[in-house]
Amino acid sequence: MNIIDGKKIAQNLRNDIAKQVKSLDRAPGLAVILVGDDPASSVYVRNKDNACKEVGFYSEKINKPADITQQQLLDEIQRLNNDDKIDGILVQLPLPSHLDANLVIEMISPEKDVDGFHSENVGKLMQNKPYLRPCTPKGVMTLLAITGIDLVGKNCVVVGASNIVGRPMAMELLNARATVTICNSKTTNLSGKLQQADVVVVAVGIPKMIQGDWIKPGAVVIDVGINRLKTGKLVGDVDFDAATQNASWMTPVPGGVGPMTIATLLENTLTAYQNRK
Ligand code: GUN
Repeated sequence: MNIIDGKKIAQNLRNDIAKQVKSLDRAPGLAVILVGDDPASSVYVRNKDNACKEVGFYSEKINKPADITQQQLLDEIQRLNNDDKIDGILVQLPLPSHLDANLVIEMISPEKDVDGFHSENVGKLMQNKPYLRPCTPKGVMTLLAITGIDLVGKNCVVVGASNIVGRPMAMELLNARATVTICNSKTTNLSGKLQQADVVVVAVGIPKMIQGDWIKPGAVVIDVGINRLKTGKLVGDVDFDAATQNASWMTPVPGGVGPMTIATLLENTLTAYQNRK
């Protein structure tokens, strides 16, 4: 079994972006909005801000109180839509329940939608004419490409159907001419589906939900889950040690998909900058 070293691949990607930034006439700019002070979201936002600084981007970390009104948040996004220093706008999810995340996402100019969550960008991905592509699935595609895994005609099973990972992941794999099965929490005989899979991508958020003997010998296993056990240990959605008995390639948790999400956000911000020029 071989490890897909996402940490190293992400670092190479960031080094490459930093090199490109040096030759631009202005720094690409990213605005990250955090509403409230959810601890996990605060960590993600801080990491995104630090990654921007590392590659020489201009970045604005915007903290808004948890009781901000829908209209105030929409006004803030409109201000950033009209700010020429800003190429990318990201609103960290989830939002407090009194806010409508969908309305907020739709307010972001599709040209600055570096998360790829706006319906216009979702539609373009679905039509296989992608513009800005969701970071985590695009990061997984980069891992597969750099590892040299051929997807054409392969059986790929995606477990999880969220707007952030599962659905766009399935479209990415279909666009790469794989045969794609999308499973969700109601899927019957999940183990049977997985036993047919040449490539498995799991994003469900349940520790060790995927058992090792569900993995076909030689399969590639991409684990998007990051779960903290009561002991403090971080584990994925796949029983890693057991799955190593069958998999040919696997992403570890941590150090697999996670670092790729932020590196891909930087890549998308650079793309948004280039498109706006
Ligand atoms: N929350 C969890 N993942 C993401 C992501 O990729 N983008 C945003 N904006 N929020 C998230």
